Amino acid sequence: MEKSILENLKKTKNYYDGISEGYSKLYHNEQILKINKVIDYFPERGLFLDFGSGDGVINKYLGKGIEIVSFDISFNLLELNSNGKKICGNGMNLPFKDDSFDFVSSFTVLQDLPKPKRAVEEIFRVLKKNGLFFVSFLKMSKKYKIIKEKLLENFCKVYEYEEEKDIILVLKKD
Ligand SMILES: C[S@@+](CC[C@H](N)C(=O)[O-])C[C@H]1O[C@@H](n2cnc3c(N)ncnc32)[C@H](O)[C@@H]1O
Repeated sequence: MEKSILENLKKTKNYYDGISEGYSKLYHNEQILKINKVIDYFPERGLFLDFGSGDGVINKYLGKGIEIVSFDISFNLLELNSNGKKICGNGMNLPFKDDSFDFVSSFTVLQDLPKPKRAVEEIFRVLKKNGLFFVSFLKMSKKYKIIKEKLLENFCKVYEYEEEKDIILVLKKD
């Protein structure tokens, strides 16, 4: 991997590791508002990957029939995440087989990645056919246009909601 990308990933990891203790106070309220916009589409059972899970704010909104796998680059945030299986790694290279998950979520993560298109391809790869992908990303990000284009090139749109800072989508792998 290029040196500049490695440095970028290290910077992101250090940032989120550094704010981990205060993360819930800083971000949970706004993340819960986003989750609530798509909660009606949440499944009752199946294997669910939370990509860039942070400390697992989504966990309590998932039913008992859901098996959750939380994936994040920040070890410290994962340590605070109390449910299910936890894997620390880089989202541009997922350590899962093709067609592994029934559902994937990614709330406010993609714009942090140096190569978001690569991450979208990885998410598409690990999601099963007909699986749903719940995703939000920042509208003010420089990467907004490339992310949206790449998502709509790969997935079929089920639902879209725009708010002041974010766009929230429910997508399907056909
Ligand atoms: C704004 S937080 C959102 C966390 C969580 N989705 C939520 O809604 O609270 C962004 C998350 O993406 C993770 N992240 C950033 N870059 C990543 C990467 N390359 N691979 C995996 N996770 C990454 C960060 O560590 C952080 O937990």
